[in-house]
Amino acid sequence: MPQETAVYTHGHHESVLRSHTWRTAANSAAYLLGSLKPDMRVLDVGCGPGTITADLAELVPRGSVTGLEAAPGVLEQARAVARERGLDNVDFTVGDVHELAFPDDSFSVVHAHQVLQHVGDPVRALAEMRRVCAPGGIVAVRDADYAAMTWYPQPPALDRWLALYRRVARANGGEPDAGRRLLSWARQAGFTEITASADTWCYATPEEIAWWSGLWADRTVASEYARVAVAGGHATEEELAEVSEAWREWGRQPDAWFGVLNGELLCRA
Ligand SMILES: C[S@@+](CC[C@H](N)C(=O)[O-])C[C@H]1O[C@@H](n2cnc3c(N)ncnc32)[C@H](O)[C@@H]1O
Repeated sequence: MPQETAVYTHGHHESVLRSHTWRTAANSAAYLLGSLKPDMRVLDVGCGPGTITADLAELVPRGSVTGLEAAPGVLEQARAVARERGLDNVDFTVGDVHELAFPDDSFSVVHAHQVLQHVGDPVRALAEMRRVCAPGGIVAVRDADYAAMTWYPQPPALDRWLALYRRVARANGGEPDAGRRLLSWARQAGFTEITASADTWCYATPEEIAWWSGLWADRTVASEYARVAVAGGHATEEELAEVSEAWREWGRQPDAWFGVLNGELLCRA
């Protein structure tokens, strides 16, 4: 049975935020951008460190964006990003997507990027997102699909990384292969007008490979994910160290290439 509130698998260690702060509206929400209008009211659920949130605020200059997060700590970083960019149409609040503290029909767009894979009840989350979205508005969600990630070269240790990550994420109450399930969840949440698409992130330049392999090498031994993997009996510290070293070794390969498949939905509220 899904838990209503899952544990966020990654936590907000620096090695995790290294990945999140790379994200922009252009590289992570392109499927939504054509639907935005300058005066829209946007809710960004699970906004994390807020780089996408800040981009969305720039795209609705006569409207507003609210970033909502379950973890209060990371909101300090999100507020700093908005301040540094001189944005005065964005605010942040702590909350849980399963039970949003907003009246019905409060927003014109309700967005969640890489969030539904981490929540205990994604169907209820989508129903809540729909409730606070005005009729005719848009609920937009995008999630990676871990089982569909692919890479080269293919050392066995990176297969162990993927199997371990998926085990830990599920033990935390999440669904790491969320991308393929978004459409099904949205239909269960009552949406009938849904545009489904998929998009990829591809890391192939020396800089991208160094960044991606380095953050996973660090995350595997130093983040909340590492702590939960050991505490839950999913891996020993020695096994995590081996996987971490495998990421570093992979990152030294001149032919290294990594592809991430993301499922995405635009749902009419
Ligand atoms: C993978 S991060 C994505 C952050 C940001 N949207 C981005 O793409 O950079 C997922 C975020 O969702 C937040 N989160 C997890 N469960 C949540 C819940 N039930 N309600 C609100 N936020 C939640 C986590 O704290 C985390 O910051």
